[in-house]
Amino acid sequence: MPDDLLEHARAAKGFMPEDEGALLHRWARERLPHGPALEVGTYCGKSAIWLGAAAREVGGTVFTVDHHRGSEENQAGWEHHDDSLVDHELGVMDTLPTFRRTIRAAGLEEQVVAVVGRSETVGGWWRTPLSLLFIDGGHGVEPARADFRTWPRWVMPGGVLLVHDVFPDPADGGRPPYEDIYLPALASGAFSEVDVVGSMRVLRRTTGGAGDRLP
Ligand SMILES: C[S@@+](CC[C@H](N)C(=O)[O-])C[C@H]1O[C@@H](n2cnc3c(N)ncnc32)[C@H](O)[C@@H]1O
Repeated sequence: MPDDLLEHARAAKGFMPEDEGALLHRWARERLPHGPALEVGTYCGKSAIWLGAAAREVGGTVFTVDHHRGSEENQAGWEHHDDSLVDHELGVMDTLPTFRRTIRAAGLEEQVVAVVGRSETVGGWWRTPLSLLFIDGGHGVEPARADFRTWPRWVMPGGVLLVHDVFPDPADGGRPPYEDIYLPALASGAFSEVDVVGSMRVLRRTTGGAGDRLP
């Protein structure tokens, strides 16, 4: 990770520990020469800096999808609420302005492209094979299931699916990324695990083609 971008990644608001960010960066460097990367769950752009840094180094484009209204746990009264991200006039979360400032300051506007909308809505129209897919969107059962239904099938053969906050032991954290994304991806037979750091799992697509529905 280039030093200047490491500083930006450290300073950005968000939920990406440095060792897991480094994993994202490493896999993005390997995969971006073969096709685009897509992230589900932009928030304020912290993980997008790790991905965008790889794009600056090896070329390529990172799409990042978010409705920018925050997940359940980001809403007022919940554990991960940040009042500075509320649009007080409308009374809703809006992480898009902070994301735009963060990516502009990091000099990654050419590499990181925001797609603003609900993941399932955007994904319903998506047709481009993905070389790297990173799922870090809503962590509830329904959003996790929707993300699994929507996105992993677009990973190209040889491409990778990274899933964040995978906790096999319930004592460590919430279940949906593990039960509703990671396990079904393995059970589909289309992916096998190739790497792990912290709560991040990396699965490579081993069967089927981009766009094929997963078994
Ligand atoms: C855990 S945060 C992402 C953290 C980010 N990757 C980082 O490095 O800091 C999850 C994000 O997913 C977004 N999100 C949740 N459900 C969504 C949905 N159905 N469609 C689009 N975005 C969604 C939320 O708005 C939130 O910004």
